[in-house]
Amino acid sequence: MTGTPMIEIHGVTKRFGAFTAVSDVSLTVNAGEFITLLGPSGCGKTTLLRMLSGFEQPDAGTIRIAGEDVTHLAPYRRNVNQVFQSYALFPHLTVFDNIAFGLRMQKVPAKEIAARVAEVIALVALQGFEQRKPQQLSGGQRQRVALARAIVPRPKVLLLDEPLSALDAKLRHQMQLELKHLQKQIGLTFVFVTHDQEEALTMSDRIAVFSKGRIEQLGTASEIYHHPRTAFVADFIGEANLLPAELVAKEGANVRVRLAQGFELVLPSERWPGAAPRARVSIRPEKICVSKIPIEAEHVFRATVKEEVFQGVFDRLWLETEHGLRLTAVVANESALRPPIHAGDAVWCALHADDIVVLSDAS
Ligand SMILES: Nc1ncnc2c1ncn2[C@@H]1O[C@H](COP(=O)(O)OP(=O)(O)O)[C@@H](O)[C@H]1O
Ligand SMILES: [Mg+2]
Repeated sequence: MTGTPMIEIHGVTKRFGAFTAVSDVSLTVNAGEFITLLGPSGCGKTTLLRMLSGFEQPDAGTIRIAGEDVTHLAPYRRNVNQVFQSYALFPHLTVFDNIAFGLRMQKVPAKEIAARVAEVIALVALQGFEQRKPQQLSGGQRQRVALARAIVPRPKVLLLDEPLSALDAKLRHQMQLELKHLQKQIGLTFVFVTHDQEEALTMSDRIAVFSKGRIEQLGTASEIYHHPRTAFVADFIGEANLLPAELVAKEGANVRVRLAQGFELVLPSERWPGAAPRARVSIRPEKICVSKIPIEAEHVFRATVKEEVFQGVFDRLWLETEHGLRLTAVVANESALRPPIHAGDAVWCALHADDIVVLSDAS
């Protein structure tokens, strides 16, 4: 991805005693980009964010913001602002006064404050709520006040640490879209932290997948979903059937790979890690085509449905293939045109070689 770098993180490490929370992380975020740090709890996301805001000092490495080395600069001198999970609004102040608070501290003239607060209130669609107190607002509205307060000083970078996790699912989905829309509208650089893979996929220009203090993979939502490089990423983003695979033979520009006795696939050689005799592959559950009637395709196999779980829009099927492989598949829910598939059914399955991802980490 090209663009003007806004944040340049180079070789940043943070230790707490003998424990390394962030380990040699390098990452460049472009101006106007929405980047998400995604990973399980405890992988170092908040620690990295706190080093960007200046509340934590790295043990090694440098951080530049808008070209300036800010590694050891105090938080208030960084042109960076943060939205917290708990919103941290002043309960006794009105919406207007909560948003105006920082500008008043900076001794911005009252007339300019009025104009700038009105502008951000319009941006977050809170017109008419100026005189309400936080407890007179819904969770989503409080979230928008926190956001307005964070953008009104016009920071160059906004840091958001799990800002939607206190909201219920429906409101969270709505706020995800609102936040993304707002970010594009004002063109601010966002560093967004979440442990929720669906949230990351929905909102981000790029995602940095974290594991144990390191960036495991960096890419767009689609790159990370369709081309995970490691088993951790394949399993953490979406769902994956992870299977061992064995190299059978090289055939010109292709390799023949065995997933089980009697179950071989042909893949372009460049997708296989060199001359490795074995590797792990990932197959997404939705890439397996399942049918009660025979299918015509390159790789067709029979399977038995061991278990079936209704999950609303789709059904989850636990399959045992004729070669003894256990696979999870998801299929669109039954319709008048498509008969339901139940536990105990014998089915035909098809798989395309392009939908098999060979992982590059050690098997
Ligand atoms: N101030 C601290 N002192 C000691 N350990 C810490 C401190 N802050 C974070 N940690 C540890 O560093 C690891 C990463 O924490 P954190 O960055 O909060 O993870 P995340 O935000 O990804 O859940 C955790 O194991 C946490 O316990
Ligand atoms: Mg955290």
